[in-house]
Amino acid sequence: MHSYRFDSPSLDGLRLHDEPMPVPQRGELLLRVHAVSLNYRDLALINGRILKPAMANGIPVSDASAEVVEVGEDVDDFRPGDRVVSLFHPRWFGGRKVAERAIGSYGYNRDGWLTAFKVVSREAVVRLPDGLSHEQGATLPCAAVTAWNSVNGQLPVGPGQTVLTLGTGGVSVFALQYAKAMGARVIATTSCADKAQRLRALGADEVINYRDTPDWGLMVRELTGGQGVDRVVEVGGPATLKQSLRAVAFHGEVVLVGFLGETGAPLDYFDLMGAGASLRSTNVGDRSLLEACVQATAQGQIAPVIDQVFGFAEARAAFEHLRSGTHFGKVVIRVAG
Ligand SMILES: NC(=O)c1ccc[n+]([C@@H]2O[C@H](COP(=O)([O-])OP(=O)(O)OC[C@H]3O[C@@H](n4cnc5c(N)ncnc54)[C@H](OP(=O)(O)O)[C@@H]3O)[C@@H](O)[C@H]2O)c1
Repeated sequence: MHSYRFDSPSLDGLRLHDEPMPVPQRGELLLRVHAVSLNYRDLALINGRILKPAMANGIPVSDASAEVVEVGEDVDDFRPGDRVVSLFHPRWFGGRKVAERAIGSYGYNRDGWLTAFKVVSREAVVRLPDGLSHEQGATLPCAAVTAWNSVNGQLPVGPGQTVLTLGTGGVSVFALQYAKAMGARVIATTSCADKAQRLRALGADEVINYRDTPDWGLMVRELTGGQGVDRVVEVGGPATLKQSLRAVAFHGEVVLVGFLGETGAPLDYFDLMGAGASLRSTNVGDRSLLEACVQATAQGQIAPVIDQVFGFAEARAAFEHLRSGTHFGKVVIRVAG
């Protein structure tokens, strides 16, 4: 069976390997991987930009949808043919998160999902509902759960509230979709006119081009009658945080999700204090959040936005497409079939 590994930490190092078929032990499942999706993290890890560089020679990618082909001893809750999606943190089932090293995540300190078959604990997957395809399921473990966590995790947004999303990557597009489904108004930013139209088609109430309007935080404030937004899903980090603090309402919340640029306007204490908002960091979510997110997506009939599906042999092209930043929503690789 075939797996991709990073033989060296760059896209040139992404190589296909022929490997022995894994065998499920007690309590484990042998899965045929049908589809995976890529996240910004998959590029940042090979650049050594997140925590420490990913494990040497590891199989990349954190998110997958798969089919059970064999169950280990004592597994009575899954059968061959069942469809499942992976947990981002395979050992975080609920409660407070402990250190990343202890809890682990795929493609970082344990082999990921860019492989034809994989064995995992039966606790490290949740069922994929019938209404969702494997390609759609593969978009959910990281980006969707993070977006769900941002708008619904601790303090759900709702009618009468405004959410700000930044850019049109995986997390932001899901955040827009969930926030609209929950009745909130959404202001979205993008750098591209075509993408602005697609954001509007998905329900964005207002769209700002952050290249044309570098002081977009003030425009967000104007669009909210001077009040600011109740929630910012902050994916830009140093590139956007100063503007996000201008855009957020006093008593609003800025959810610190990630970084898409490492330089930006410097912040000082008075930017933080003056904003009057809470800052909350996320780290995707636990198993219960994935379960809630999968159900909400299926029952709320939110169609995950898939920009492009690549074949298994085109894995490198999929990574390059993600790196180009031209995608809207999620980039998927079909592994089986
Ligand atoms: N902490 C967590 O739990 C967690 C979970 C998931 C992701 N993350 C992090 O969240 C971030 C986003 O991840 P992702 O996978 O959704 O990324 P992604 O799909 O690669 O997002 C790419 C998009 O970001 C937008 N962008 C780039 N620079 C921007 C800027 N200066 N201002 C606004 N938008 C900008 C662009 O949109 P336009 O073309 O429309 O301009 C681009 O298409 C990453 O840092 C990732 O590591 C963190």
